[in-house]
Amino acid sequence: MLSTVIIGVGSYAPPTLLKNEDFLAKGIDTTDEWIRSRTGIRERHITDGSESTTDLATNAARAAIANAGIETSSIELIVVATLTPERPMPSAACAIQQRLGLPGVPAMDVAAACSGFIYGLSVADGLMRARGYKTVLVIGADILSSITNWADRSTCVLFGDGAGAVILKASEEEHRGITDIVLGADGNASELLTLERGGTIFMNGKEVFKLAVTVMGNVAQSLLERNQITKDDLALVIPHQANNRIIEAIASKIDVPIERFHVNVERYGNTSAASIPIALAEAVAAGRLKRNDWLLLVAFGGGLTWGGALIRW
Ligand code: UT7
Repeated sequence: MLSTVIIGVGSYAPPTLLKNEDFLAKGIDTTDEWIRSRTGIRERHITDGSESTTDLATNAARAAIANAGIETSSIELIVVATLTPERPMPSAACAIQQRLGLPGVPAMDVAAACSGFIYGLSVADGLMRARGYKTVLVIGADILSSITNWADRSTCVLFGDGAGAVILKASEEEHRGITDIVLGADGNASELLTLERGGTIFMNGKEVFKLAVTVMGNVAQSLLERNQITKDDLALVIPHQANNRIIEAIASKIDVPIERFHVNVERYGNTSAASIPIALAEAVAAGRLKRNDWLLLVAFGGGLTWGGALIRW
């Protein structure tokens, strides 16, 4: 095998919308104006309690399988990035494997918070190269509404629920697919963004904001430099969707026009591991990627963790 190519994408978000105005009705001291100006978010999809992470993820997986035009039975490995599996054991990946009717197929969760999808992509790509898997399902899925502190106005307005998935295929084509991946973590800064067992998300927003801009900017620069790709070669950048201002700051740091970023935080909020694959599925549906385009993915989140992927579409 020479390369790992994304042959299908899919996403799913629960139908219930929580709009900025709805927070006032919930008695939260905030305004649509504050949320939009500080984050860019207008609304987010929230489960009504009837759907689990496995439900969302399975729907996204089925959409990606259909988009790839493959038989479900051809999937040889399942990797799920999530910080909100229904249960620590069995993993979300095993529950999804059962739903898809793939007994025997190896399945695992990857925990890297908002960077989880890039970590998952890297684990899948590595196992395809090392172990010869040819068709792999990678999912990012989270129900952040289940771990949101609804009394903390500085975080409860930020999060949403959803899932995105890709099908990876081992290919003999040179110069296509996942070209390079950067991963990193810093446990020294772990207390800036935490979730205790049975608890809700705590975030030092200001510090996380600053680090997110610096680190995602550096990851993007280093991927471009070490692969000798110029910023002008980039057809599309899909960053983790946490905050419009973070995305704009990254665009300015790497000097790529914001028009070449796919941004949907306005309609989803921050969906953690799901944010990049949901945006990718949208970008593909909108015809924003054509064969051989350079695509850059970049993420940052709790851990702290970060990652970036340079992909030739
Ligand atoms: O996915 C992992 C990565 N996560 C992120 O990247 C998130 C990073 N952080 C952020 O996006 C931003 O820091 C926030 C959106 C969370 C906060 O924006 P900020 O500009 O850093 O606001 P702040 O925390 O400095 O708060 C400014 C003011 C405060 O009032 P005072 O102390 O100046 O009187 C807050 O109490 O805004 C107040 N505030 C709010 N006001 C209305 C905080 N949240 C709200 C709210 N509505 N929802």
